[in-house]
Amino acid sequence: MPTTINPLRYPGAKRQLVPYISKLLTNNNLAGSTFIEPYAGSAVVGLELLQKGLIKKLVLVEKDVLIYCFWKCVFYHTEDLCKKIEDTLINVDTWIAMKPLRDIINPNDWDILELGFAGLFFNRTNFSGILRANPIGGIKQASKYKIDCRFNKPILISLIKRLSHLRDKVEINWDDAISFMNKAKKDFIREQCFVYFDPPYFGKGEKLYRHFYLSSDHRVLANFVRQNKHFDWLISYDDDPYICGLYSGIGAKYCPFYLDYTVSSGKRSKGKELLISNLPLPPVDLSMTSSQY
Ligand SMILES: C[S@@+](CC[C@H](N)C(=O)[O-])C[C@H]1O[C@@H](n2cnc3c(N)ncnc32)[C@H](O)[C@@H]1O
Repeated sequence: MPTTINPLRYPGAKRQLVPYISKLLTNNNLAGSTFIEPYAGSAVVGLELLQKGLIKKLVLVEKDVLIYCFWKCVFYHTEDLCKKIEDTLINVDTWIAMKPLRDIINPNDWDILELGFAGLFFNRTNFSGILRANPIGGIKQASKYKIDCRFNKPILISLIKRLSHLRDKVEINWDDAISFMNKAKKDFIREQCFVYFDPPYFGKGEKLYRHFYLSSDHRVLANFVRQNKHFDWLISYDDDPYICGLYSGIGAKYCPFYLDYTVSSGKRSKGKELLISNLPLPPVDLSMTSSQY
């Protein structure tokens, strides 16, 4: 199966790291392991590794109801989701009618298809894919970019159908990352696992995600990694002295890299980020990577 581009245009997506993480797994005899992403977002890394056949299984955890339901629909309600994409008018009236779905905090309180479609809809019609932002072009649609300019229905349907074939190898959980890890860690001792943590950014998480971390939450993640030594892990972060301080003294390896991303102004920018791991980290070469469509 050819490598698929992701249907979500996710803020902070780490597609550019896929070749690097592939190499990290192969260099450390971790190919064929279960790959866990406790902060799934677009899950672009895990999904591409799965498509390449580099991992056996992908376990996703996401706290945002709309993103969790979107992934559930991709794998378990594929045809219904695709039909809804085909049938829905992508305009400001639809955006306003769907806005209350952003207030649902429990996926069991609503129809999963409505919520899953809303995840895709707001991701692809809002500024920079930010779920709680306003629509591209604004409510008045006065800009030359209109609300539907990132919503190519045939491409989205084809990406979703392609990904849906992976359903037997993907597990999706609506949970808090650390609560999930605490519940599931006994299973990690039995099977070969690799955990890729990509938590909300330390600096701008609040602007990008509906769930974000306070300093104390970042500390909880560092303590979890410090106390649980029976699996290999990689963390990506924005480079900040507070974060480096959290991981000092546990023998972690650090490696800086510069991620190309689109800021809310629509301009391309490079952000200094950091990889942290218990494994040896070679320098990051992002020259082999491709950009989002
Ligand atoms: C940096 S983004 C992950 C991006 C992802 N790696 C990608 O390539 O698209 C962080 C994600 O963590 C989610 N998140 C925030 N708090 C969380 C929590 N406590 N537990 C699980 N997920 C959480 C956010 O909704 C967001 O999707």
